Amino acid sequence: MATIIRKTETLTDGDVIRAFLVSKGLVYESYKTPEALDIVLAQKGLSDAEKAEVLSGLEYRFDQLKKDHGYKANDLVVLHDEVPGIQDMLAKFDKLHIHTDEEVRYIIDGSGVFGFIIDGEKFEVHVGKGDFISIPANTNHWFTLDQNLRIKAVRYFKDNSGWTPVYVDESKVLVNA
Ligand SMILES: [Fe+2]
Repeated sequence: MATIIRKTETLTDGDVIRAFLVSKGLVYESYKTPEALDIVLAQKGLSDAEKAEVLSGLEYRFDQLKKDHGYKANDLVVLHDEVPGIQDMLAKFDKLHIHTDEEVRYIIDGSGVFGFIIDGEKFEVHVGKGDFISIPANTNHWFTLDQNLRIKAVRYFKDNSGWTPVYVDESKVLVNA
C-alpha cells in the first residue's frame, strides 16, 4: 500500500489515499501479485527469460486493463544498484516533467517515489509492491527510487510515442510549496 506525504500530513489509509489521488485526477489501485511469481520477483536482477515469465504470469492483469482502458502494449522495467548507468536513467525522470501520453505503472517488487505538483500542491506518493498508478497526460510529476535502489514495474502503454519527458519549470506551477 502506498503512503502519501503532503506538506501538512501523511496519508497511510487505503481508502483515504485512493480518495485523495482521485481528487487530484490520478488513478490508484492495489493489486496483489500472484504468489507463483514470488520466487522470481525476489531476485534482484532478471534475465530476459525471467522477465517474459513475469509478464506471462501477469497476462490476466494486462487482459483486464486492455478491456477497461485500451492499453495495447506492456513491458517490465527492472532497476537496481548494479544496473549500468542507473543514476543517468534516474536523472532523466527525477525532475518535474509531463508526457503527452498516460504514465501507467504497476509496481511488483521494490519501491519508489512519484512526486507531483497538481493544483499548485506538491506531494509525494511512495509506492511499493502491488501499487498500480496511472498518471494522465500533461500531469506535472517526477519519479525516483528511494534508498533501496530497487524496483520492478510493469509499464502499460496506449502509444509508445509519448515517452519523451517534457520538462516543466517548477516555479511556474507551484503555489504553496
Ligand atoms: Fe514520467
